[in-house]
This record gives sequence, structure tokens and C-alpha cells, in this order.
Amino acid sequence: MIDMLDSTKRRISVTAFLTAAARAVESQRPDRLFDDPWAALLASREGFSILEKGEDRGASIVVRTRYFDEWLQRLTQEEGLRQIVLPAAGLDTRAFRLTWPPATRFFELDLPAVVLYKEARLQAQPRCQRTILAVDLTSSDWENQLQQAGFQPALPSVWLVEGLFFYLPLEQTRQLLARLSRLAAPGSWLGFDAIHSAMLSSPLTSSRIQLTKKNGAPWIGAIADPVALLASFGWQASFVSNARKGYEYGRAIFPFIAPEALNAETEKLYHMLVTAKRLPLEESPRL
Ligand SMILES: C[S@@+](CC[C@H](N)C(=O)[O-])C[C@H]1O[C@@H](n2cnc3c(N)ncnc32)[C@H](O)[C@@H]1O
Repeated sequence: MIDMLDSTKRRISVTAFLTAAARAVESQRPDRLFDDPWAALLASREGFSILEKGEDRGASIVVRTRYFDEWLQRLTQEEGLRQIVLPAAGLDTRAFRLTWPPATRFFELDLPAVVLYKEARLQAQPRCQRTILAVDLTSSDWENQLQQAGFQPALPSVWLVEGLFFYLPLEQTRQLLARLSRLAAPGSWLGFDAIHSAMLSSPLTSSRIQLTKKNGAPWIGAIADPVALLASFGWQASFVSNARKGYEYGRAIFPFIAPEALNAETEKLYHMLVTAKRLPLEESPRL
């Protein structure tokens, strides 16, 4: 199924096998940070083989997953949000493995080949009202399809875009941010992970960057200042590095800098875990 895609999208889609493989391995640990019982089934041999080559065996994916698990649960269970949208959902199984308040709507968007693959394998009962849309986020009118499927733009929503923006040219990331921001009512939240250009050029991370090239899905899309970028779309953002979160959770992330040496400069060599709240309309720029 994945072979139906054009080659660039195919290569990015294969990375969904990698993230599923990382979740499968983590789920086997006695001290696991989450349990994803479907990840092994979804990951395929390709995912495990890419995972084995990584310097930290997927620790950064594991830390990101746990961080955004906690974030989503807090926003739905404590802050009352009931619409969740996952653009580039890949083989994510949160709709099945986390607990959601009644009436939670969960929308997963990914390319048709990935959706077909996932739905053919995932025979399970979601714990929320789950809708899955087969769309190309860069070219199709997914906003309309989302609303036809029941998404209500007048109500606040949560948007989580994991593992996508660093594969895209910055212009495509900007376009996606502009499009989703138009659907996010004041009080909505947005989460994503991003990399700084220092990660693309530092000798400390060059082996990882080379590996992403060798795997056929190079990291190219750096965001220098996510707070300023998101402010231009009407969001108030902050971020934490996955290295810092990793030490908090007991997982060291490549390039293995000691916790006491983490600071604003060294943390540019890691993924930023970005979260943002949609500003009231009077404080937002017109998009
Ligand atoms: C690294 S995976 C991340 C998947 C998931 N968010 C996770 O963290 O496990 C990247 C995902 O982006 C999806 N993707 C890439 N380009 C896309 C596009 N133009 N439209 C929709 N999905 C896309 C891929 O199919 C793949 O599932």
C-alpha cells in the first residue's frame, strides 16, 4: 500500500513504521513510559530495522510520545477540550490506548496508503469517537473534509503534529500552520516537535543527520524560533527540549550531553517539544 505514494512521500511515510517500532520496543520494558499493544503489529520489519541503526534506539520518539500523551490527557481531562486532530497521525494508537472523556472526537489525518495499511491491521475498539481521513495535507482540501466529518471550528480543539515538520521545507510548514490556525478557535492548543538549524550543522549531530539521509527521509526543515513563528499565526507558544524531558523520564537522548551541561545553546541539538495556546481573536493577526 505504501508503494502507491510518490517517492518523497513514500519515504516520509515509512518513518511511521519507525515510530511504531520505537513504541513497540518501549512497551516491552518493565519501566515503560507507556503501553502501546498494537505498535508491534503495525511497525513491520522495516520499522525495526531502521530503529536498530539509531544511536539511542528511538529514545527521542519515546520521550515525545510520553510528553504528548500527558499533554493530551491534561487538556481533555482537566481543561475540557473535546476535539483532537492529529495531522500526519501515521500509526498512532492513542485513540485506542488512552482514556478519553465521553464525547471526545478524535480525527486522524494521513496519506491514503498509510490509512489503508493501518485500518487493515488495526482491529480494535477506539475509546473515543474516532474518524480517520485519507488526505494529502499539502495539496488536498482537508479542511473541508474535516468539517464534513464533524469537526466544529467554532469550538476549541487540540492539534498535534508529531514527526512531520522537520521533513518538510519551511514554506510547507508555514502553509500547514496557517491552514490549521484558521480552524482553531480561541482557547485551542497546538503541539508539535521541531528542530533547530544547529542540529543540521553541528558535528555532534552529523551522524544522526547522515542516518536520516541514508534512511531516505532526510531532516531538512529547521525552525529557528518557534515562539516567534507561532506568534505570527496567533498562538502563544513555549517549548522544552526532549533531552531535558528525557532525563526527567529516565531516557538519555543522542547526542548524550550530561544533564548539567544542558542550556539554551546545547539544547539546540535536540528536538523542541512545542506547545501553544490560541490567542483570543482580538490579539491574533489576520490569516
Ligand atoms: C514520522 S511519521 C509520524 C507519524 C506519527 N505522528 C507518529 O509520531 O508516530 C510522519 C507521518 O507523516 C505523514 N505524512 C507525510 N507527508 C504527508 C502529507 N503530505 N499528508 C499527510 N500525511 C503526511 C506520513 O505518512 C507519516 O505517517
